[in-house]
Amino acid sequence: MGPVPDLCDQGRTVKLAVTAAGFHPPIVGSPLPPPRRLHWRSEEDTAAFAQALATRDDIRDAFIELRGDLGAGKTTFVRHLLRALGVQGRIKSPTYAVVEPHEGPPAQVGAAPLTIWHFDFYRFNDPREWEDAGFRDLFARPGLKLAEWPDKAAGLLPTPDLVLTLDTLDDESRQVIASAGSPRGARLMEGG
Ligand SMILES: Nc1ncnc2c1ncn2[C@@H]1O[C@H](COP(=O)(O)OP(=O)(O)OP(=O)(O)O)[C@@H](O)[C@H]1O
Ligand SMILES: [Mg+2]
Repeated sequence: MGPVPDLCDQGRTVKLAVTAAGFHPPIVGSPLPPPRRLHWRSEEDTAAFAQALATRDDIRDAFIELRGDLGAGKTTFVRHLLRALGVQGRIKSPTYAVVEPHEGPPAQVGAAPLTIWHFDFYRFNDPREWEDAGFRDLFARPGLKLAEWPDKAAGLLPTPDLVLTLDTLDDESRQVIASAGSPRGARLMEGG
């Protein structure tokens, strides 16, 4: 993996409560870390990042948004992550079905298997489908959730733990901005 300098020097600001009595200290704990910029020179770097994430306990209940243009490498990243988590067999892109479920081995012998939901909202046009297809219920369950094209379901999705925004550079390598949206995401970003 290439060098990973901080993208911005400002941390994520924490909401301050402003009332008639004036400012109050931050309501929630420590601020989230600033976004990080990664450089994936080839698919091998994509795979290495996915393999590092797969070793984290926090991955097993995380919600990760994957942003970026067509062909940026979102599904490729998901495939590497699922393989690294021990998912076997063909890993289909969920473009037509909106969601593809997967199952990986449990963290320990005797524990429940890892459930993974891979969403691709590219063709998601009807917000009624959110309830009808039971997506709200899926997001309420334990398991790893990965979503391509989250903008197409904006307002319905919960806050992501981690957002990866992929961008293809002129030399076909990928610039990736990794941004934590929660303490779990911040932990996933640490050294990930
Ligand atoms: N880090 C990388 N460097 C160079 N090429 C890559 C890299 N990651 C992925 N690719 C290649 O780019 C293509 C990305 O296709 P992929 O289906 O993953 O894109 P996508 O972002 O999921 O697109 P879509 O929005 O259509 O779902 C693949 O052919 C893959 O081999
Ligand atoms: Mg895709």
